[in-house]
Amino acid sequence: MKKHIVLLPGDGIGKEVIHSAREVLSAVAEEYNHSFSFETHEIGGAAIDQYGTPLPESTVDACKQADAVLLGAVGGPKWDQNPSHLRPERGLLGIRKALDLYANLRPIKGFKNLLHASPLKEEVVSGSDLLIVRELTGGLYFGTPSERRDNGNAVVDTLAYTRKEIERIVDKGFQAAQQRRGHLTSVDKANVLESSKLWREIVEEKKAQYPDVAVEHVLVDAAAMKLITNPTHFDVIVTENLFGDILSDEASVLTGSLGMLPSASLREDGLGLYEPVHGSAPDIAGKGVANPVAMILSAALMLRYSFQLDDEAKVIEEAVQSVLDAGFHTGDLQVTDGRLVGTVEMTKLIVDYIKSQNASKCIASCYF
Ligand code: IPM
Ligand code: MN
Repeated sequence: MKKHIVLLPGDGIGKEVIHSAREVLSAVAEEYNHSFSFETHEIGGAAIDQYGTPLPESTVDACKQADAVLLGAVGGPKWDQNPSHLRPERGLLGIRKALDLYANLRPIKGFKNLLHASPLKEEVVSGSDLLIVRELTGGLYFGTPSERRDNGNAVVDTLAYTRKEIERIVDKGFQAAQQRRGHLTSVDKANVLESSKLWREIVEEKKAQYPDVAVEHVLVDAAAMKLITNPTHFDVIVTENLFGDILSDEASVLTGSLGMLPSASLREDGLGLYEPVHGSAPDIAGKGVANPVAMILSAALMLRYSFQLDDEAKVIEEAVQSVLDAGFHTGDLQVTDGRLVGTVEMTKLIVDYIKSQNASKCIASCYF
């Protein structure tokens, strides 16, 4: 299979971890006879420095031509005081909108030997395995007007959704539940917000189309509580943009480290942008200590969702599990009796596993 991948390293540790993903993908290409070509473009703070804008046209054009996009992270203290249109985050929001990547999938699953690092009791968090399906191109993030008024003494943000925007993400939620354990939690604030009332109506209308899915409605405040008191309750959560942003950060710590969590942002035709849930971590950037796992697992999601290469995605996931099982870990994981490694070594261990796995398969199929 021949695919062209655009890499957007962005800022901070984004540059280091994107390099890891590329190494892993090159190993997969070599071992499984694919041809992946790469092209790197700027986004976020790096793009502000080089082009004076967080999202240059050339970056958008390259992404539109690509088969898939991998993004590291954006942001850093250097640009924190910039006016809003010149903040690195604008680059990320802009590329999501420009590519119409409305469905953000954030799977959260604990690695069993890291559960003790979770802030929750091991018996509460053990067995949790959920997927947050977050609407990504609407709601408060994009509604207009969004501005200061009255000489800066009043503000307005707008929470707007169309029926079509809600329907397509709710469908994604139901479909994801069908492929998992058949349970969907729709999260809203229908006791207060008009947008949530329409959301809830649409979920109710849709459920007849998915008789194999059990669906419930949970208010966002209650959902936030349940995520930490009873995380194993959840299978798939579908929710609007801002609620999904907040709940996914909350859910991410269940597993012990934000450094482990991948995400996929998709549109209908399969084009996707894949990025770790973690940010640019400016405090550790350039030190070679960043955990590359979330980025590497994001590359695995790319193989699965954009290229339908499920076996190749699985081998990457197995590689991560096996390296962790062997006790190797980066500094963000509070493992006391393992071996501390940096970004480059962690990546190499994962690459070596992928190579050894394929070699042993070949021996088996070639000789027996
Ligand atoms: C995320 C991030 C972004 C968001 C920021 C960086 C704009 O927090 O991907 O969750 O709010 O969507
Ligand atoms: Mn977020």
